[in-house]
Amino acid sequence: MEISTDRAKEALHVMIDRNRIAARVAELGQQITDDFAGQSIMLIGVLKGACLFLSDLARQIKTDATFDFIAVSSYGGSKQSAGEVQLIKDVTGPLQNQNVILVEDILDTGLTLNFLKKLFLARQPRTLKIATLLDKPSRRIQPVDADYVGFQIPNEFVVGYGLDYAERYRNLPDICIVAQEPPK
Ligand code: IMP
Ligand code: MG
Repeated sequence: MEISTDRAKEALHVMIDRNRIAARVAELGQQITDDFAGQSIMLIGVLKGACLFLSDLARQIKTDATFDFIAVSSYGGSKQSAGEVQLIKDVTGPLQNQNVILVEDILDTGLTLNFLKKLFLARQPRTLKIATLLDKPSRRIQPVDADYVGFQIPNEFVVGYGLDYAERYRNLPDICIVAQEPPK
């Protein structure tokens, strides 16, 4: 697949296709269903990247569930983290005594999830778990362990299935590596 831009041609190479994503998301949903059998859970998606993962995962969870969303400062147009995290949009209700599962697109340096974990633990949920579609352990700056991990991936910048590069490519059905080619 090749997508033309004003600046350059960005070649996309599929790393994880839609069928593998669907199969793995179904397994994670089953695991969460088993872990929380007979209980209610609150899924909190980190906008915007986690919204496709959350919507597919939620449909694979067979226990009582509610949704909420938060937004944090992002990398902007760059592939590098700015190094600090800010909450831009908070959840709408209290977390006290709730079984909270934070749903993220990718665990990279760990700065975002570390920040969110501390913030939400202070609100005294009954349990706090982390579900991430992707994990790049080689990039970790702060240690964070996710409870539910879709795929561990090598140190490549990926897009698709919710993940962006400068806000683009979120709508790709597969997870792809984006390699920028110099203009010819
Ligand atoms: P962390 O705070 O470094 O763990 O970064 C988490 C956030 O960085 C994710 O929610 C993504 O928005 C972004 N990010 C990290 N790696 C990638 C990538 O390969 N593609 C797209 N976004 C990424
Ligand atoms: Mg992003």
